[in-house]
Amino acid sequence: MNGNAWNFCILAAGQGKRMKSNLPKVMLPALGRPLLQYLLDIPRINGYQQTVVVVSPDNHDVVASTASGAEIVVQENQRGTADALKSALPTLLSFGEYVVVVYGDMPLIKEETLQRLTSYFVQERVEMCFLSTRAPFLAAYGRVVRDGKGEVLKVVEERDCSPREREITEMNIGVYAFRTSILKEILDALDNNNAQDEFYLTDAVEACRACGYVVTALEIPWSDEFLGVNTPGDYSRVMDELRKRKATQLFEQGVKILDPSTTYVDWETRVAEDVWLYPGTIIEGKSSIGRGSRIGPYTRLYESQVGERCKVEFSVVEGAILENEVMVGPYSHLRPGTHLMQGVRVGNFVETKQAKLGEGTKALHLAYLGDAMLGKNVNIGAGAITCNYDGTRKHQTTIGDGAFIGTNNSLVAPVRIGEGAYTAAGSTITRDVPPESLGVSRCRQENKEEWAKKRARGDKK
Ligand code: UD1
Ligand code: CA
Repeated sequence: MNGNAWNFCILAAGQGKRMKSNLPKVMLPALGRPLLQYLLDIPRINGYQQTVVVVSPDNHDVVASTASGAEIVVQENQRGTADALKSALPTLLSFGEYVVVVYGDMPLIKEETLQRLTSYFVQERVEMCFLSTRAPFLAAYGRVVRDGKGEVLKVVEERDCSPREREITEMNIGVYAFRTSILKEILDALDNNNAQDEFYLTDAVEACRACGYVVTALEIPWSDEFLGVNTPGDYSRVMDELRKRKATQLFEQGVKILDPSTTYVDWETRVAEDVWLYPGTIIEGKSSIGRGSRIGPYTRLYESQVGERCKVEFSVVEGAILENEVMVGPYSHLRPGTHLMQGVRVGNFVETKQAKLGEGTKALHLAYLGDAMLGKNVNIGAGAITCNYDGTRKHQTTIGDGAFIGTNNSLVAPVRIGEGAYTAAGSTITRDVPPESLGVSRCRQENKEEWAKKRARGDKK
C-alpha cells in the first residue's frame, strides 16, 4: 500500500432487485459469511486508512452488524452509484487523499488487483482511474469508449449503448480510484439523463475530462474476480469460485478432498492437515477438524469441533464437540451441547443433545441421550432412551463410570445410575440405581405350558 493516504469505499445501498430476495444483496451468505465480508477483509490486509460502507436506510442495521470497524454512511434514496458515492463524501473528505471505490456485489476482487490499480494511479499521477477488461462473454457491463488515439472518452451503460457501442468488447469492471479532492466538483456535475434515470458513477469519466482532469482505464486480463452478483445465476457462480478458492487453500494444507464438486467447506471452517473429506461432506460455520480425521461420506457438520483421528460418516453433527479418536455414524444425529470425550463411539440411529459422554463410552444403536451426563466406559444398550422431558420441563440423567444400561430401557429423568451399576433389559427406570447394583423394572415372565397346543385343539383354557 502506498502510504496511509487511501480510503476504501464500498457501495452497498442498492436494492438488488434482480435477486428477488428479502436479504440485502451484500448480506447474502456465501460459504457461511455475508458477501460483503469478503470485501471487508481487504482493508484489513491492505492497511487502508478508513473503510466506508454506503448503505440504504433499510439495510443499515443488518449491514452495520457485519461491518464493525468500518464507517457506515446512509444513502437516503437509491438514485444511482454516483449518488451513493456522494453520500460518502463528507466522511471521505475527512481523511485520506485518495479513495478506491468498489461495488459491494463483487466479493471476488483480490487485494493484488486493487494494489495494481493504486500503484498505477500514483505512478501515472492521474485524478481518476478505473479497471477495464475484455470479458469472454457478453456481459451487461458498461462499455469503455476510446478515441482514435486510445484515450478514454466515456463509459456507456449497456442499456444506453448505441448498436455500435454495444459491439465494444472493453468493459468497465466497476473498480475505481479517485483523488478525493476532485470528487465534489465531479459528482455535482453529473445528471441522470439515462435509461434508468439514475446518477451513474461511470459518467464521472466524461465529467473528469470536461473539468480537465486526467482519467485513464487500466486494462487487465479477464478473471472470474470481476463477477458481480446481480442475479441468482451470478450468485451461484460466485459461490462456485469461492468454493474453489477454499479448496485450493485446503489442498495447500494437505487436506484430501475426494470429490470437490460435492464437498462444501465454509470459509471460516478450519481443517488440519491430513484430514480426509469424503464425497457429500458439508462443513459449516466456525467448525474445526483435527489432524488425521476422516469426515463423510454424506455428513453435515455445523459449528462443531472435531478432534484428531476421528471418523464421522453419514451423520448430522450440530454444535457438538468431539475429542480425539471419536467414531460417529453411520446415521447418528449429534445436536447442540453434545460433548464426546476421547474414544467415544456413537453408532446407528443414535441421537444426542446436551449430552456429555465420558472417555470410551459407547452408544452404538438406536438410542436417545438428551440432557445426560455419562461417565467413562459406559455401555448404552440398543434402544435405550432418556425420558428427559415431562411435557413442561427438561430433566437430567446421570450415569456413572462403567455403568451398563440394558437394551430397550427408558430412563425417566431426573434419575441417577451409579458407577458400575447395571439396568436390566426392557426396564423403565424411575428411581436412582445405587453404584454396583442392578436395577430391574419389568414384569416377571410367566410361561403357560402347552398353551398353543391347547388353543389349536379348541380347549376353552
Ligand atoms: C455497474 C456499473 C457498470 C459496470 C458494472 C460492473 C454503474 C452505473 N454501472 O453496473 O458500468 O460494468 O457495475 O459490475 O455504475 N448501489 C448503491 N446505490 C445505488 C445504486 C447502486 O449503493 O443507488 C450499489 C449497489 O448496492 C451495488 C453497486 O452499487 O453493489 C453497483 O450497482 P449495480 O446496480 O449492481 O450496478 P451494475 O448494473 O452491475
Ligand atoms: Ca453489479
